[in-house]
Amino acid sequence: LSSKILIKGGTVVNADHQEVADVYVEDGVIVSVKPNIKVGDGVRVVDATGKFVMPGGIDPHTHLAMEFMGTETIDNFFSGQAAALAGGTTMHIDFVIPVDGSLSKGYEAYVEKAKLSCMDYGFHMAITKWDDIVSKEMEIMVEEKGINSFKFFMAYKGSLMISDELLLEGLKKCKSLGALAMVHAENGDAVFEGQKRMIELGITGPEGHALSRPPVLEGEATARAIRLAAFVNTPLYIVHVMSIDAMEEIARAQKSGLKVIGEPVVSGLVLDDSVLWDPDFITAAKFVMSPPIRASGHGKALQAALSTGILKLVGTDHCTFNSTQKSFGIDDFRKIPNGVNGLEERMHLVWDTMVESGQISVTDYVRVTSTECAKLFNMYPRKGAIRAGSDADIIIFNPNSTFHISANSHHSRSDTNVYEGRSGKGKVEVTIAGGKIVWENEELKVVPGSGRYVSMPPFNYLYHGIDKADENYLTSLKAPVNRIKQSL
Ligand code: URP
Ligand code: ZN
Ligand code: ZN
Ligand code: ZN
Repeated sequence: LSSKILIKGGTVVNADHQEVADVYVEDGVIVSVKPNIKVGDGVRVVDATGKFVMPGGIDPHTHLAMEFMGTETIDNFFSGQAAALAGGTTMHIDFVIPVDGSLSKGYEAYVEKAKLSCMDYGFHMAITKWDDIVSKEMEIMVEEKGINSFKFFMAYKGSLMISDELLLEGLKKCKSLGALAMVHAENGDAVFEGQKRMIELGITGPEGHALSRPPVLEGEATARAIRLAAFVNTPLYIVHVMSIDAMEEIARAQKSGLKVIGEPVVSGLVLDDSVLWDPDFITAAKFVMSPPIRASGHGKALQAALSTGILKLVGTDHCTFNSTQKSFGIDDFRKIPNGVNGLEERMHLVWDTMVESGQISVTDYVRVTSTECAKLFNMYPRKGAIRAGSDADIIIFNPNSTFHISANSHHSRSDTNVYEGRSGKGKVEVTIAGGKIVWENEELKVVPGSGRYVSMPPFNYLYHGIDKADENYLTSLKAPVNRIKQSL
């Protein structure tokens, strides 16, 4: 494997600019980006004429090797990442799940799992309980472990779900650490009640999953989380925005000046809930995720919000289970492990849905699939850019070729694919990760253990303006009110 690569004659695309240029890579890093670079012997030259040369995708939302709903996701850090690389994604951020509420135990477990990595990755961390130890551990995660974001689950009553009181504590702590708070926004108590109602009505199949947790419950939790973040005066990131209801709350918050970031996922953008009514159980159950895939119309609205900038970056929530695992819920949808695939498909489906359809430009494509994530989680410009000094995570994309999706040819270990049979224009022909060609001619060359952990420092810029607002608030509190004493 050559450590020196010259990508010749392609159109280099960054989030703000595109131009025809060569890209020269040495020892894992981009050395120069300019027209007509001359090199000597020992350099692998890749012709990219007529193709786009773009930053590798960064998926802000995955679950690899996660223990969840009584089982474990079928993709681990090797198979999930291999699939990602075959689809043009060169980095992802996975959610560390605490062990018995302990962040440090959860972190250690994920360090073990991630030893199989064949591409770069980072961690978010979930917070599932609250006490002084968790509070202290959050400091350690931010200051010593390179984690700058924490996810709070407002759903999954009885396991991951947290109360408003805990959410407030968590938001305050995130703010004090310069970390970004993330929420899974569904009203877990109402979902629990909705599920009981479905079972009582005898609706035990996958359609009951969607019926038990309608958009209104996602809208309610999104609005509540946004208001609590406003109360604490700290930014908020809403993961997997699946409905118009949630998206409109985000738009409203942004209009009033709040720092709220919304993340649609590929399944929410391109699928609709008709699949949940399929008479074949597995065919329907493979689509079960939370929040659920919505009625057609929601996806279109989310696409529009992505094109206008209300929603800023696209994740997958890649969380795969095979048919055997999905069938745990054959008699009761509440036992179907929640989650769908997407790591390998995201780059192609976002291109097809957003760029081919004319809804966003090629530079915007780079922004929503890579650069925005790198900036938000403080890895830019090491990640998310084709420029001198950045990591050599690069894709060569042929807009005139075609992609085809099938469980028969995908690289995930799952035996199903929620995008089965889809095809469209555009194809990731070459993936370079960490300066090595890992995907070329439909062939993967990946080595377990070659991926690196990317440390993400806490934020400064996100908090500009927010400290100031706190000052105003405190000043207003100090103004004494001298009431006239009256004798009654
Ligand atoms: O159904 C889903 N989304 N599974 C993964 C866990 C989560 O809520 O993100
Ligand atoms: Zn230029
Ligand atoms: Zn979630
Ligand atoms: Zn998730």
